[in-house]
Amino acid sequence: MNKESFLIKNLSGGYQSGLIIKDISFAVREGGFTSVIGPNGSGKTTLLRILSKVLQPRDGTILLESEDISKICLKDFCKKVAFVSSDIAVNFPFSVWEIVSMGRIPHLKRMQQEKKEDLAAINAALVMTDTAHLKDKSLDEISAGEKQRVFIARALAQEPQIVLLDEPTSHLDIGHQIHILDLLTKLNREKKLTIIMALHDLNLASQYCDQIILLDNGKIFKSGPPEEVLTYQNIENVYRTTVVVKENPLNSKPYVVLVPSDCKK
Ligand SMILES: Nc1ncnc2c1ncn2[C@@H]1O[C@H](COP(=O)(O)OP(=O)(O)O)[C@@H](O)[C@H]1O
Ligand SMILES: [Mg+2]
Repeated sequence: MNKESFLIKNLSGGYQSGLIIKDISFAVREGGFTSVIGPNGSGKTTLLRILSKVLQPRDGTILLESEDISKICLKDFCKKVAFVSSDIAVNFPFSVWEIVSMGRIPHLKRMQQEKKEDLAAINAALVMTDTAHLKDKSLDEISAGEKQRVFIARALAQEPQIVLLDEPTSHLDIGHQIHILDLLTKLNREKKLTIIMALHDLNLASQYCDQIILLDNGKIFKSGPPEEVLTYQNIENVYRTTVVVKENPLNSKPYVVLVPSDCKK
């Protein structure tokens, strides 16, 4: 049986103003590729913030390789888990190199300079994300799509076992969307990197992920492999819009076609 990376049991949490995530339970196996989908405001970002220790849960437990994450100190947690937030605003003009180097902080002792293996990890992350040519630029001199790749590079420089990504392709053109998702797939297959990401695009979730968690108003409406989750009934119930679900002839995965109102009979 596969080992579990994350085991989430009866998790609830949110903000002072209200509970957003309501009694959620699921498991992500080691080397799994999971996406969290759901309408705007359904709680995807909040769930990732709780899983990455940015927000404390109100109730329930999160086990990371059988250990309760509330008992793991942040530095040790960050050696294993990296988080790529969708919020790419930075209020200081760090260079790309400086941002990506920050990924090494969990691995360094206090005041310690980067060693050879740290520099190698930073350079590898820059090359993998196609950002090496930007390394001396300041973050305020590059585009939103380039910034998104730089923050993914920082997470990869961290050399985590699990990476959590919040809508990692939202600012990317289709070429770079495929480039990043293909890169994550390669790391997932070759390095057994466990991936959990919130995605807007149902078809990208279907093509790339082995498990999909469909959130509706902070609860799991359905979770499982793409063909069980991406049925037209589930999508219509949660997104309240009409769709047609076909099969991608290249890989038999579900393919969601949007239906504009004037196409309906
Ligand atoms: N910092 C915050 N403080 C209070 N409420 C928030 C905060 N961030 C998000 N919310 C609320 O939590 C709900 C879920 O938001 P979010 O997790 O961002 O959803 P999603 O990522 O699926 O669009 C929304 O109703 C949103 O208004
Ligand atoms: Mg969000």
